[in-house]
Amino acid sequence: MDDHAAILDFLSDNVSPATPEVIAAVVQANDANAVPYGEDTWTAALQTVMAAAFDRECVTYPVTTGKTANALSLLSIAEPGALIFCHEYGHILYNELGGPAMYTGAELVGLPGEHGKIAPETFRAAIARYGTVPRGSVLNLTNATEAGTVYTPDEIARLTAIARGAGMTVHMDGARIANAIAHLGCHPADVTWRAGVDVLSFGATKNGGMGAEAIVCFDPAAAARLKEGRKRGGHVPSKMRFLSAQLLAYLADGAWLRRAAHANAMAAALVADLRDIPGVAIPVPVESNHVFLAVPQATREALVDAGYQFHLYERHGAGVIRLVTHWATTDDQIARFVATVRDAMLARTVAG
Ligand SMILES: Cc1ncc(COP(=O)(O)O)c(C=O)c1O
Repeated sequence: MDDHAAILDFLSDNVSPATPEVIAAVVQANDANAVPYGEDTWTAALQTVMAAAFDRECVTYPVTTGKTANALSLLSIAEPGALIFCHEYGHILYNELGGPAMYTGAELVGLPGEHGKIAPETFRAAIARYGTVPRGSVLNLTNATEAGTVYTPDEIARLTAIARGAGMTVHMDGARIANAIAHLGCHPADVTWRAGVDVLSFGATKNGGMGAEAIVCFDPAAAARLKEGRKRGGHVPSKMRFLSAQLLAYLADGAWLRRAAHANAMAAALVADLRDIPGVAIPVPVESNHVFLAVPQATREALVDAGYQFHLYERHGAGVIRLVTHWATTDDQIARFVATVRDAMLARTVAG
């Protein structure tokens, strides 16, 4: 690799490879013909395995992307003309260009909140502004949040109780639900249906999948609506077995939580080393696999010169960059990144 080759180590968890167990499962599912459109044995087995993971009867629909999972999940519970409350930086509002509104006919309402979380009083005040919310309105929560922070079961339960009181249902964007559960060390049920979540977008791609997510309906009425809704939405993959095979391997023997725990531990290690460097700041608590780093422009330039790619996240402060770890992040990658930051900060001190 030359000096200026792109280094993607901390750009996103989407840069990660798929885990060996996922690849092996896809290869195995490629052995023979299989019944299409989700009538295959992998998808049938997934129903049982997901229900066991969440300790609750549920219906699981595999899909190809997190955006699809969100759009269809919301389609399963939101009514046209209703409201979908979410964080102002919620993925469904900030990154999906109105996709969920297009699918549902509902309006998205963004709420402010520190470090990616909606506070109960903010949600209550937003509802009060409407008097009564329209029938079929929804609260959307992301866990882990877009800021990498994690809602606890109590925090979720408080918000979902407010939603229920206003006649609303609850969707959780769990693109990184494994990271949230690994951080909390709780049962998957505790942050989902037991805390009042009706439908979950269950992420796998960012944590070792090859390209598979799932919609998990804890609410049977949502599952019934999706049976046709996903056809109308154009999302019933004919070779669903390959998605289900990935998800089965992802869930087997708790691999999903072990992989996420590694990603979280790597973020913790990264931030521990970065904090030791005078002049750097970490403006957001690190609770999953995201680290937000505030460094001077010269240091950002040194990182770019070294080949690092990253995104600016100025919602967390001027010049703040986002670093994301994943299931395959290594100690060596962390050491190299920290050394680059340290050298750049030292050069600045010496020059100053
Ligand atoms: C919180 C969250 N939800 C949903 C998505 C969408 O996932 P996908 O890129 O698979 O559509 C992302 C992607 O980064 C995300 O960060």
